[in-house]
Amino acid sequence: MCNFAVRCPDKPGMTDVMATKIKTVWYCTSCGNESSKWMGRCPACGEWNTMVEEPRAEKAGGAAAGKTRAYISTQDAKPTKLSEISFSEDNRFSIGIGELDRVLGGGMVEGSMVLIGGEPGIGKSTLSLQIPLSCKDLRTLYVSGEESPKQIKIRAERLGGGNDNCLILSETVLENILQHAREVKPQLLIVDSIQTIFSEALDSSAGSVSQVRECASSLLRFAKESNTPVILIGHITKDGTIAGPKVLEHIVDVVLQFEGDTKGSYRILRSIKNRFGSTDELAVFEMTGGGLREVSNPSEILIPMHQDDLSGVAISAMIDGTRPFLIEIQALVSTAAYGTPQRSATGFDSRRLNMLLAVLEKRAGFKLAAKDVFINIAGGLRIADPACDLAIVASILSSNFDLYISPKVCFAAEVGLSGEIRPVTQVERRIAEAEKLGFEEIYVSSFNKESSFSGHKGIKVTTISSIADLCKKLFG
Ligand code: TYD
Ligand code: MG
Repeated sequence: MCNFAVRCPDKPGMTDVMATKIKTVWYCTSCGNESSKWMGRCPACGEWNTMVEEPRAEKAGGAAAGKTRAYISTQDAKPTKLSEISFSEDNRFSIGIGELDRVLGGGMVEGSMVLIGGEPGIGKSTLSLQIPLSCKDLRTLYVSGEESPKQIKIRAERLGGGNDNCLILSETVLENILQHAREVKPQLLIVDSIQTIFSEALDSSAGSVSQVRECASSLLRFAKESNTPVILIGHITKDGTIAGPKVLEHIVDVVLQFEGDTKGSYRILRSIKNRFGSTDELAVFEMTGGGLREVSNPSEILIPMHQDDLSGVAISAMIDGTRPFLIEIQALVSTAAYGTPQRSATGFDSRRLNMLLAVLEKRAGFKLAAKDVFINIAGGLRIADPACDLAIVASILSSNFDLYISPKVCFAAEVGLSGEIRPVTQVERRIAEAEKLGFEEIYVSSFNKESSFSGHKGIKVTTISSIADLCKKLFG
């Protein structure tokens, strides 16, 4: 009754009187904002329907509810001149998986906290267990709130390798985890996952906003005080954000996100926040029977698994993060069986596909309005580089005319709304990658500076300015 009265917008007069008796608060699951009453829209982040009711985050000493405690606070901290702060480059160490080291910006930084997010089943636990297994001398404490030591052992057997310095702990109570960590003094602490552990100081259940926030900040304090790097595993919600509050992303130093189709075998690990390096880095892994395998040359995804003369296939020289790689795009254009034609894209933005189809229809005169168009990106990857536009258009035209494109030809250009072929960034690196992989010809925009591709002798660079130009040069 009391809580109802406080939350009831029809009885505003009751609020002040009842506020002292509130035992629950409302948290926004998107940004962690708290409120004493339910609201349809979070005033902090503007998301709808994200407020959930949770017991108030009251601490034993009666500290302010819900306020995250200071992360770093030492007795003898005092203002210091920047020039007087001692620093050495070697407070980074390798964690045994080259691609992961690269995404982290050149290894793990001591005392840092890394969050690895991803959908269930994508390989977060596998990757985090592979770290101690491939780095034998590293004293690691692997805490799992999801699996028993036996299950972890079975997984470790599959992954191969071994590490006598790796300690396994199945525990979900934060205070116990911290106590064990202080005793063991690991060189690396892994917590799988942040949503399964909880602090006894709070009433709310594990995985709730206040618990996730409290556990993450306690672990951060441990990391900074003991200079121990901590890896947190976090689940991702359906809409792609890391479950629990966005606050988690603010607390940690590095956020790595696993992407990819859980049914496909390729996974991309992308850095979306990094206090110690670039966020342009990404690593490609392949899920095999023996765990995740590093794919140091992502273009190998391209290895053709069909005959040469198939129509509807075009190869794009794309760049994701800082890495150029070549990717196969497949299109199927067929006469629509129903009145409204279907347009479907897997791994590509379907709105952009609709735009490209409208450009083909209006600017280049192709009659695609009564055709079904399907696009698929090989390897289960998702692409967002506008440089893939030209390859998408080429694959659609190839399927429409049923004329195949030589597998030794690739494309790198954006298509504009007026049908013009626009230049893309880093065209030189794309050409260099295509040349390295033995491609014979690459189509780029004629608006690219000639100096950026004149240095490549092993590959023919064809410049085009419009879709009509593309058709003439490609299909004759
Ligand atoms: P997992 O790491 O448990 O996912 P997460 O922790 O992100 O939920 O990975 C689960 C999937 O990986 C599971 O579907 C099986 C597959 N897998 C392999 O294919 N090979 C392996 O060697 C391992 C350990 C898992
Ligand atoms: Mg897991």
